[in-house]
Amino acid sequence: MPNTVLVGAQWGDEGKGKIIDVLTRESDVVVRYQGGNNAGHTVKVGEQQYVLHLIPSGILHEEKVCIIGNGLVVDLAGLMAEIDELAELDIKCEGRLYISDRAHIVMPYHREIDAAREARAKGNKKIGTTKRGIGPTYGDKVTRRGLRMIDLCSGDFEAKARQHIEEANCVIEALGGQVLDVDEVTADTMALAARVRPYVADTISLLKDMSKAGKSVLFEGAQGTMLDIDFGSYPYVTSSNATAGGACTGSGMSPNKIDRVIGVLKAYTTRVGEGPMPTELTDEVGEQLRKKGAEFGATTGRPRRCGWFDAVVARYAAAINGFDYWAITKLDVLDDHEKIKVCVAYECDGKRYETVPADPDVLEKCVPVYEELDGWCEDTSELTDYAKLPENAKKYVDYLCEITEVKLGILSVGPKRSATLRVGI
Ligand code: GDP
Ligand code: IMO
Ligand code: MG
Repeated sequence: MPNTVLVGAQWGDEGKGKIIDVLTRESDVVVRYQGGNNAGHTVKVGEQQYVLHLIPSGILHEEKVCIIGNGLVVDLAGLMAEIDELAELDIKCEGRLYISDRAHIVMPYHREIDAAREARAKGNKKIGTTKRGIGPTYGDKVTRRGLRMIDLCSGDFEAKARQHIEEANCVIEALGGQVLDVDEVTADTMALAARVRPYVADTISLLKDMSKAGKSVLFEGAQGTMLDIDFGSYPYVTSSNATAGGACTGSGMSPNKIDRVIGVLKAYTTRVGEGPMPTELTDEVGEQLRKKGAEFGATTGRPRRCGWFDAVVARYAAAINGFDYWAITKLDVLDDHEKIKVCVAYECDGKRYETVPADPDVLEKCVPVYEELDGWCEDTSELTDYAKLPENAKKYVDYLCEITEVKLGILSVGPKRSATLRVGI
């Protein structure tokens, strides 16, 4: 099994968790390489639904090793809550979950600063974050003031944590947020640190050794290309590299060890939070997609904005990530539509755009140029064989692959493992 990077091609929530779950069976190690518990990856096994936030979705497969790479920001309380929840479902993390000693820690003040900044933001300055402290933690990382997992293993962690909390309180106060009780937060952090410490490891050496022993690695991207800090619809993005390059910088695996990159692509478009989304539908069609696709955030429960498929975004994502295959998801959600639109370009102030403009004000004003395709008006959700797909559904999928110049690898027609049609891979 080749080393595979799996990346969201749109604004997140493409169904990465489900596809990771399907591919984990053929892998030995599953690695998260960026983001934090802003992610919500849903896996449905029979009637049981799991939502993973920080822990790789591969954890649901008993014998697999899971790694939280150096590129992540880890909320200690969030992590332990997730480990406890899994334990209640008889899924053990001990001995097979490893957290990079270089990963950064999301402290309670990061969450508070995130919330305070969002509360202060006026008009269209609000990002609509998950309020998980992601931006402030990555901010501390790049300004070289962060606390890392390795600090948590050192004897002076308590003093370090206390100093950071005291300093952060000045920022929180200035932002008009809720100042933290230093003693209480320090004590809570120390209690959590004791529980997290056994999972901290040198994951770079671990990955290298496993790779040398011929084990195959699956990289689980979080968020999506349009939320990437460099390539996304800045500033309405997350604070990490969600694109394929992040798999190397966020794990320590070298680029020449990556064999293939799979893009996860929803058959239509969704977005949670603020920021431009050219194909957003605020009419009953958008509402229909939200309802049938159960488009509510897996982390925050917020309704997702829904719209037609945006090929400008998909082509842009393919160019950046170099996708070898698409895993197209949620085709079944389009089952009832007689006509389906695909955005093939944008228009703004008389200019045609074939790719995503860097200026958020331009992207905000972009109007989609649509092609219309015939729907299939048949239930696809029970299909297990690609050959049995209605003709117009095949045409729709072929069209998406043709205009993005990426081959189909996997087609998903429902949330369960069984609703997965393997085509090219
Ligand atoms: P992720 O963040 O990319 O892992 O995606 P989420 O889990 O946030 O959102 C995807 C949602 O769609 C979840 O509720 C999945 O159970 C569901 N899902 C995944 N694939 C399919 C599919 O092919 N059809 C339908 N109807 N639902 C799907
Ligand atoms: P998964 O992995 C969808 C969005 C937030 C907000 C922006 C910044 O489940 O696809 P942040 O809290 O990261 O600072 O918020 O990014 N966002 C996501 N949207 N899926 C996600 O993850 C997301 N993670 C963050 O809604 O617009
Ligand atoms: Mg999600």
